Amino acid sequence: MAEKISFEAPRGMRDFYPEDMVWRNKVFDAFRASGEAFGFMPYDACVVESYELLARKAGEEVGEQIYHFFDKSERHIALRAEMTPTLARMVAQRQKELRFPLKWTTIAQCFRYERMTKGRKREHYQWNLDIIGEDSVLAEAEVIGAAVDALKRMGLTSADFKVRVSSRKFLGELLAKSGIPAEKHAQVFLALDKRGKMPDSEIAAMLRDGGLGEADVAATFAIMDTKSYAGCAELEELFALAATAGFADCLQFDISVIRGLSYYTGIVFECFDTAGEFRAIFGGGRYDNLLTTIGGEPTSAVGLGFGDVVVTELLKSRLGESAASGKKGVSVGFMTDAERDAALRLATSLRSEGEQVDLALKPSKPKKFFSNADQRGSAKAVYIGPDDVSSGKARMKDMTTREEKELSLV
Ligand code: HAM
Repeated sequence: MAEKISFEAPRGMRDFYPEDMVWRNKVFDAFRASGEAFGFMPYDACVVESYELLARKAGEEVGEQIYHFFDKSERHIALRAEMTPTLARMVAQRQKELRFPLKWTTIAQCFRYERMTKGRKREHYQWNLDIIGEDSVLAEAEVIGAAVDALKRMGLTSADFKVRVSSRKFLGELLAKSGIPAEKHAQVFLALDKRGKMPDSEIAAMLRDGGLGEADVAATFAIMDTKSYAGCAELEELFALAATAGFADCLQFDISVIRGLSYYTGIVFECFDTAGEFRAIFGGGRYDNLLTTIGGEPTSAVGLGFGDVVVTELLKSRLGESAASGKKGVSVGFMTDAERDAALRLATSLRSEGEQVDLALKPSKPKKFFSNADQRGSAKAVYIGPDDVSSGKARMKDMTTREEKELSLV
């Protein structure tokens, strides 16, 4: 006897049943609406990239999490773990023709072989917003403003989340002041990014491995107690711009925000739920050197990635599991085959008026029809029996109020 095989989705990969798509659409609709409201142009690319473009220095987590393989022509191929290298490649390829600054957006499916924890899967969709070719801090203010706008469109308020902001440049200046040489800073950033995720003793060990002496390790931890961004002009400007745009209440200075990716050069930020229950909702920052590292001309850039996993968990917990499913559309049903054509004609006419119509595919008893209409979340329902066909009139029932309105059959 053949062995029964269980075909489940591979670990960490999600199936989206219709009830999951309702949530995904709610989140994606907000991503798209905010991207448009802030003037970002959509772009896209294939999920398959060359491994070389995506892999970076050892020690960087994302580089180690890449799904990769050799194709039949022995090309080293990878599934993208993030969109930023692809964006940099696309921009570098057309750098002479493009008109800067670019404001580009996409929703990209990304793959990372992650240790599975709450809010972290091996596949996720990531909304990306990037401004390329702009030095002004207004670029940071606009990308953060757009992401905050999306969270508000989804139904959250500034009480639910905070965007924690810091600057690698500022942290670099503080480290330099305490005598830690600039060439050690990248190591220090990578170690400090692990704060809260591993004990301080292990971070200290990472710093020592990176060549820091005991005094430097102590100085690094002392710097992490910095509570104010005074003296960092770009952070002061960002907070002022956020006040003008009306979202300063969503921002918080937090020097411990470092970011795990090595390409960031200036302001960095990460958004968390206020209660501290979930992983990062979105993260990003300024990365002024990435284009040059892949062969493009020097170009400043700032952007963020906003995943669908954490925000959906947060929305379900704050708004309720059923918050995404509002009643909509019309169900049309009929009692016997003799009313089928009348039902089809009505469905066709309602659809031409722009209604979303679910036409029953078989005759059914009224009780079953209305119960199905309720179950699928139709806002209205019309059930056609023989009397309706002979009178040329039927009734459209509002599934919430139960009120009925007469309509003519065609
Ligand atoms: P990231 O911090 O690695 O940044 O990812 C950004 C966001 O993607 C996270 O805050 C989280 O919402 C989501 N995310 C990442 N990994 C996972 C996962 N395994 N499961 C679920 N969600 C995940 C970047 O990727 C940068 N490329 C963002 C960027 C764009 N920087 C500049 N432009």
